[in-house]
Amino acid sequence: MDSARTPTNPTGNPELADAAPSPQDPPVIRRKDYRPFPWLVPETRLDFALGLDNTRVSATLKVERNPAFEGSRDEKRTLRLNGDGLSADQIEVDGARFGDWSMDGSDLIVQLPDEAHTVEIVTHIDPSANTALMGLYASGGMLCTQCEAEGFRRIAFFPDRPDVLSTYTVRMAGDKALFPVLLANGNKVGEGEGADGEHWAEWHDPWPKPSYLFALVAGDLVANSRPFTTRSGREVECNIWVREADLSRTDHALESLHRAMKWDEETFGREYDLDLYNIVAVSDFNMGAMENKGLNVFNTKYVLADNDTATDADFDAVEGVIAHEYFHNWSGNRVTCRDWFQLSLKEGFTVLRDQLFSQDMRGEAVKRIEDVRILRAAQFPEDAGPLAHPIRPDSYREISNFYTATVYNKGAEVIRMMRTLAGVENFRRGTDLYFDRHDGEAATCEDFISAMEDGAGLELAQFRRWYRQAGTPRVSVEQAVGDSDVTLTLRQQTPRTPGQPTKGPVPIPLRIAVHSRDSATLGEEQTIVLRLAEESFTLPKSGPAPVVSINRGFTAPVIIERDLGVDDLVFLAARDDDPFARYEAMQDLAVRHLVAAARGELDEAARAAGKAALRDAMRAILTDPELDDAMRAELMQLPSETYLFEAMASGSGKDAQLADPGAIHDEREQLKVAIGVMLKRELEGLYARVADIAFDDPAGRGGRKLKPMIAAFFAASDPERAAAMASRQFDAADNMTDRQGALSVLCGLEAEARETRLTAFYDRYKDNALVIDKWFTLQALSLHPEVIAQVRALADHPDFTLRNPNRVRSLYMAFAANPRGFHSADGAGYRMIADVILALDPINAQTAARFVSPLGKWRRIESGRAALMKSELERIADSNALSRDTREQVSRSLAR
Ligand code: BES
Ligand code: ZN
Repeated sequence: MDSARTPTNPTGNPELADAAPSPQDPPVIRRKDYRPFPWLVPETRLDFALGLDNTRVSATLKVERNPAFEGSRDEKRTLRLNGDGLSADQIEVDGARFGDWSMDGSDLIVQLPDEAHTVEIVTHIDPSANTALMGLYASGGMLCTQCEAEGFRRIAFFPDRPDVLSTYTVRMAGDKALFPVLLANGNKVGEGEGADGEHWAEWHDPWPKPSYLFALVAGDLVANSRPFTTRSGREVECNIWVREADLSRTDHALESLHRAMKWDEETFGREYDLDLYNIVAVSDFNMGAMENKGLNVFNTKYVLADNDTATDADFDAVEGVIAHEYFHNWSGNRVTCRDWFQLSLKEGFTVLRDQLFSQDMRGEAVKRIEDVRILRAAQFPEDAGPLAHPIRPDSYREISNFYTATVYNKGAEVIRMMRTLAGVENFRRGTDLYFDRHDGEAATCEDFISAMEDGAGLELAQFRRWYRQAGTPRVSVEQAVGDSDVTLTLRQQTPRTPGQPTKGPVPIPLRIAVHSRDSATLGEEQTIVLRLAEESFTLPKSGPAPVVSINRGFTAPVIIERDLGVDDLVFLAARDDDPFARYEAMQDLAVRHLVAAARGELDEAARAAGKAALRDAMRAILTDPELDDAMRAELMQLPSETYLFEAMASGSGKDAQLADPGAIHDEREQLKVAIGVMLKRELEGLYARVADIAFDDPAGRGGRKLKPMIAAFFAASDPERAAAMASRQFDAADNMTDRQGALSVLCGLEAEARETRLTAFYDRYKDNALVIDKWFTLQALSLHPEVIAQVRALADHPDFTLRNPNRVRSLYMAFAANPRGFHSADGAGYRMIADVILALDPINAQTAARFVSPLGKWRRIESGRAALMKSELERIADSNALSRDTREQVSRSLAR
C-alpha cells in the first residue's frame, strides 16, 4: 500500500486529512467533540460468580439524569452502555424485565423514561480465552483485571468513560481451593462460606471512581504485610500479594511503598485515604503496573527483587513504579481525567512526581541524566516521526496507542518547566490548589494550568502552546563577546509535524551560566526565558575566555544547536559545576565527531583530532578523583545509536539529512576501539579499583555500574581480554548486577565463554521467568554478528511464547532496540519485526501495535533501508484482518 489508502492531505489541514477515511480505518475520536454523559451513575453493584472459563457478571447501576447534560429529549433518555464482545443474557429496569433496548455495534442502548432508574444486566465471559489481557483474564490459575483505558467494557455493559464516577460494591463467589484470596477495591465488608467448597467476599470502595480504576483479583496468593502510619495517625495495612514461591522477593517493594507514602506527605502534602493498600503481582500483564483504587495490579517485573535475581537497576525500577502507581492515588484517582485526551494530566504529572521522588531517594544528578536519556531515546524520535502528537492529542482512533513517551515523558517535562518557572514553593501552592479545587472530579489539562496560574502565580497564556503543539523545539545559540559581557542571540523553531505545518514560539526556561576558561571560579547561574522566535540576552562575563553553559539541568525539552569549539566542550565536560551540563558536553563532543564521521566529512587528520579530543575528555573523567562512580559511569557513556540517528537525521526541507545506521554503528564501534586502545591503562586502573568491592560496600553500586562499561571498551579493542574479564566476573558474581553485566559483554563476543556462561545462566534460573526474560534480552541486544540467526533460534526455544507480553518484549523489543540487528542492511531485521506484528496482532493487539513505531523511521533513513522498511509496513497494511490498534499505527506510519 502507498499513501493512496490513507487520505492525501495537500494543505496539511488535519480537518481535510480526515475527510475521506478509508473503509478500513476505524473512526476518529476528537477532543473538541467532548460532551458530558446524559446520565450519572452514583452507585454500581457488581456480582461475580467466578470461573476460569466461565464467569457470570451481574451489574446493577443506579442511574439518574445528569443536569449538566444539554441535548434533545431523545438524547437525554438514551443510556448508552459500552460493551466489547459482550452479549446481555438478561436486562431488568427497576426490577422488571425490560424490552426497550437495542444494540449499536457492540454498545447496548437503553431508553429510560424517568429521572432515575435501576438497571441490571447479566453477562457471561470466558477469562481463560482472553489473550488480549484486557478486562477479566486468567493468569497462571488466578483471575485478575486490567481496565484502563477501555477494558471494563469487556466485563460489563457500562458507560466506560473516565468522567462517569461511581461508588462500587463488589461481591464475588468462587471455588475456595482455586481462589482462596478474593480482592477488590476499597475495604472488605463481608465474607462467608457457601456450598460445594465455594466462598465469597464483598468489597466496598467509598471513593467514587471511573470504571477504568475497577479491579478484582482471585487466586492462590500470600502477602508480605506491614502497616504504615500516616501523618494524621491513620494506620494503613499494606500488602504485597504474590505466589508463595515469590514471597521472599517482596521486601523491597513493600519498603518502597512506605517510602513513597511518606514522601508524598512531605513533598506534596498528600496522605493516603483508605485503611488498606493492596498490590498484586501477576506474570501476564500488558504494561508495567496499574493504579486501581486500593488494589494496584503489577507486572511481577516491578514487584519482585532480590540480589540474586534483580540488578541494581531493577531495584530502582521497582521503587520507581511502586511510587508512580501510589502517587496516582491523588494525581489520577482523587482527581481523575475528564476524557482520554487529558491523559497527560495524570500520567505526565505522575511521572514527574515519581522522577522527583527517585531523585530524592537516589541522588538528583544521576537520575536527571537517566531521565533525559530516556526522553531522548524514546520521545525525541517520536516527536520527529510520523506518530508525533501533542502531549494533549486532538484525535485518536485507538486510545491505547496514546500511552506514549510524549504523553508520559514530555508531559512530565512540561510540568517540570512550570516548576522551574514558579520555583519549588510556588509550585507546591499550585498543586495544592489543583488538588483542592478538583478533588473528586474528572478534570482537564486546562484545569491544571489554571490552578498553576492562580496558585503558583504564573502567567501561562503562551505556555499553553506546549500542550497543543507537537515536535521538539530547536534553539540555536549565537554568541557575541563584548568587553565586559556576552550577548547571546537565541532563535527557536519547531519543525512541522503531521497535521501541524506551522508552529509558534513557546516559552523556554533555560538555566544558564557564563564560565571563563581561564578563571578558577565558575560563573553564576541564572534562569532566562526565551519567549520569542528570536531574542537576545546580555550576560556579564567573568573572565577573558567565556564559555556559556546552557540548558543546565535540562530545564527545557529542546534541542540546543550551537557551534561550540572543541576546547570549550572539553572544558565544560571536565569542569562545569552542573552535572548535567558536564554530561551534555561529553555527549556533544562525541555526537559531533561521530555524526561528521558517519557522514564521511572527516579526513584522516580531522578524524584523529576528534578522537584525541574525546580521549582527553574521557581520560579526565576516568581519573577525576572528585567524581563518584555512579556519575562517572554516566559521563563515560557514549551517545546511543538511537541518539546519533536523531542527530544525523536532523535538518528539514532542502537541508534534510538522512541517517545511516550502518555508518553510525561502525563509527561508534571504531571509537570504542580507539578509546580501549588509547586509554587502556586508565581503564584497567579503574577496573582494578572497582573489581572486588564487596557487594554491600556503599561504593559498590557505582563500581558495579562501571565494570561492564569498561569491559565494553575492551570488548571492542581486545575481545580476548574482555572475554577473560567478563568470565571471571561472571564466575565470581554474588549478585545479578555483576552476573548480567558480565553476560552482556560475553553475548557480543565470538568466544567459547559465551556459550558456557549462557548455559550456566539458563540452568541456574530456568524456573524463574523474570530472569529467563533477561536471558532472552541479553542475546537479542547483543553485538554478535549472528544476532539475527540467534534471535530466530530463540523464537523456537521451548520457553518462548507469544502469549506472555514480558517474554515477547524480552526477545523482540530488545531486538528492535538493537541497531545492528534491526537495521541489518538486507532488511532481515525489519522483516522479523513485521512478522511478529502479524503473528501477535490476533493474540494481543495492544502489544503488537507497540512494535510498529520502530518501522516508522523510514522517512529519515538512507534510501536502501527506507525502501525495505516501507515495504514491510505495506505488507502489514495489506493484511485485511488487522486490529484497530495496529491498523492505526501502520496507517499513520505510512501517511504523507
Ligand atoms: N495507568 C498506567 C497503566 C496503564 C498504561 C494502563 C497503559 C493502561 C494502558 C500506569 O500508571 C502506568 O503509567 N504505568 C507505567 C509505568 C510507570 C512507572 C510509567 C507502565 O505500565 O509502563
Ligand atoms: Zn501512570
